[in-house]
Amino acid sequence: MSVTPRIGELRNDVSELARSSPTSGDLMQRLCRLLHERMLKYNWVGFYMIEPESQPPMLSLGAFVGAMTPHTRIPLNQGICGAAASSGQTVVVDDVSKDPRYLACSLETKSEIVVPVFAHGKVVGELDIDSHFPAAFGPEDQQLVQHCAALVGKKLEASEP
Ligand code: SME
Repeated sequence: MSVTPRIGELRNDVSELARSSPTSGDLMQRLCRLLHERMLKYNWVGFYMIEPESQPPMLSLGAFVGAMTPHTRIPLNQGICGAAASSGQTVVVDDVSKDPRYLACSLETKSEIVVPVFAHGKVVGELDIDSHFPAAFGPEDQQLVQHCAALVGKKLEASEP
């Protein structure tokens, strides 16, 4: 089976998960599990959410699957995570050893994608995925991860109109 249909299938399963999850918290946990299980190169999958009260703004680790990370809170001006949250743009790093922004989570990590989660037009968090393989996140992976982040944003909006 090629990679393309697997991603297409997973996209449908992810949409179904969004329909069947009662809360945004459930959805985030289930998404981490699904992506980690089904995408063999997604070795760490987790959400960071912006702490509403913190000044300066901070990202705080939420649902995740994979080894515990030393980075449970990340300022918005640090890391690849901070770059994605502060710019509101997806960040893909094919070789983390060449990116000076990178905050190491595991020595095995080779590449990373971080996709912001928007609710009511504002960045409220992000979906972060690390891979033990270099350049693991191609255009289809980006679309899949962006789809997941968008579904979480919609779920958050529905729970906090
Ligand atoms: N690598 C991230 C830190 C989070 S861990 O990967 C889980 C960064 O550079 O912001």
